[in-house]
Amino acid sequence: MQVRIGSCLCVFLLMLSAANAADNDDKTDRGSQVTFSKDVAPILQKSCQSCHHAGTSAPMPLTTYAEVRPWARSIKEKVVLRDMPPWHLDKTVGIRKYKNDRSLSDGEIAAIARWVDAGAPQGNQADMPPPLTFPPDSQWFIGKPDLTVTTDQDFVMYPSGPDWWIDQFGEVRLTEDRWIKAMEIKPSNPKIVHHAVIYAIEPDAPEGTPETGVQLHEYAVGKYGDIFSADTGRLLKAGTRLRFDMHYFAVGSEQHNRTTIAFKFYPQGVVPKYQVRSIPIRNIPNDELEIPPNTVVRTDGYYRLTRNARIDAFQPHMHMRGRGMTLEAIHLNNTTEILSSVDHFNFNWHINYIYADDVTPLLPAGTVLHMIGIHDNTAANRRNPDPAMWAGFGERSVDDMLQVWLDIVYLDDAEFQRLVAARKTKLAEPRP
Ligand code: HEC
Repeated sequence: MQVRIGSCLCVFLLMLSAANAADNDDKTDRGSQVTFSKDVAPILQKSCQSCHHAGTSAPMPLTTYAEVRPWARSIKEKVVLRDMPPWHLDKTVGIRKYKNDRSLSDGEIAAIARWVDAGAPQGNQADMPPPLTFPPDSQWFIGKPDLTVTTDQDFVMYPSGPDWWIDQFGEVRLTEDRWIKAMEIKPSNPKIVHHAVIYAIEPDAPEGTPETGVQLHEYAVGKYGDIFSADTGRLLKAGTRLRFDMHYFAVGSEQHNRTTIAFKFYPQGVVPKYQVRSIPIRNIPNDELEIPPNTVVRTDGYYRLTRNARIDAFQPHMHMRGRGMTLEAIHLNNTTEILSSVDHFNFNWHINYIYADDVTPLLPAGTVLHMIGIHDNTAANRRNPDPAMWAGFGERSVDDMLQVWLDIVYLDDAEFQRLVAARKTKLAEPRP
């Protein structure tokens, strides 16, 4: 891995400008030559450069032809396998619309593949889209925070050696509970941070809550905060302790890092109508995960909703042997429906798949959520540390887990019926 230098700059404006940049579907099927300037650069701007620009922890910038050309073969491989951009859903099943979907369309993948197969030609410089600019790293994308919490201890990462996973902690200093409207995480040294997942260890958490906390928010390169939907928020309790689950890598010299999470709150006294909770579904009792050597194992977990629910987001959590996870709803009439399925899980990435507002599952009390996990403990799994080793439930990365975090909003009957009716009306409207 090469050493990366430069100051970290970032997105949002980029996303705005990139939204108009390109929809390359079909355009390229008309026999004309696919070139970098005309066809590939707009795709990279839209889907890659938020991470792949100078100063981030991504291994190389992909902003100019000179930077991209040496990586052409590798780019083709990664996009065809759907490893890049990181988005691990099986797009052929379940819900198709996500707010944070950054995956490439089949047309874009085909365009990149054809371009590489044709020898990766640059084409006409005049066809290049204007370069994107990346706003300074000091900027919070959610706006000026009302509260920030930083890890207590400075972390020192060695110059070289394997990746390192470690828990760090920070205290929420609040005198009263507040409703979160938006959250954003920033490491002080993004070059060495692959990801951070923050868990809230709440005072007086209900029985059965994992001692390691409930998921609050996650960061990886290219991610710039989340803002909840209108009238939606999450409670941050005074006295909460935050656990920062960090994944670091070595870059050739000793490095330091502290991580900060920033919050924007609803005004004091305002209680949002829709209150998000993070609910883990596990295969309880969860320590019964058994993954014998050289096998692929399926494990099931069930969770019965005791209240009407809107599900806002889906985030699978497994470790190195995790390969896939499907979440189904078993409806009251006994039909089943796949909500989401991750078919090429990658432990390096903790992706929260956020449903678009008009497709969030609305499920009445009594619906059973069914989680199906697939762990691959064979040599075919590239990330498997040792296919000859038995693995079971545990917190270490070499142990494994099977858990899905859901962002759930509970709804009373009247509000539930209202949302279901509004959805039906919307579906019945003629499409433009
Ligand atoms: C969310 C951030 C992000 C986005 C978006 C992203 N990448 Fe990456 N990419 C990374 C990181 C980080 C790595 C390092 C390996 C890893 O973690 O998987 C990487 C690795 C790669 C590699 C392998 C490099 C090596 O060292 O072998 C290629 C090729 C690549 N990305 C191409 C792309 C392309 C092409 C796109 C857009 C179509 C893209 N990436 C979008 C973050 C991103």
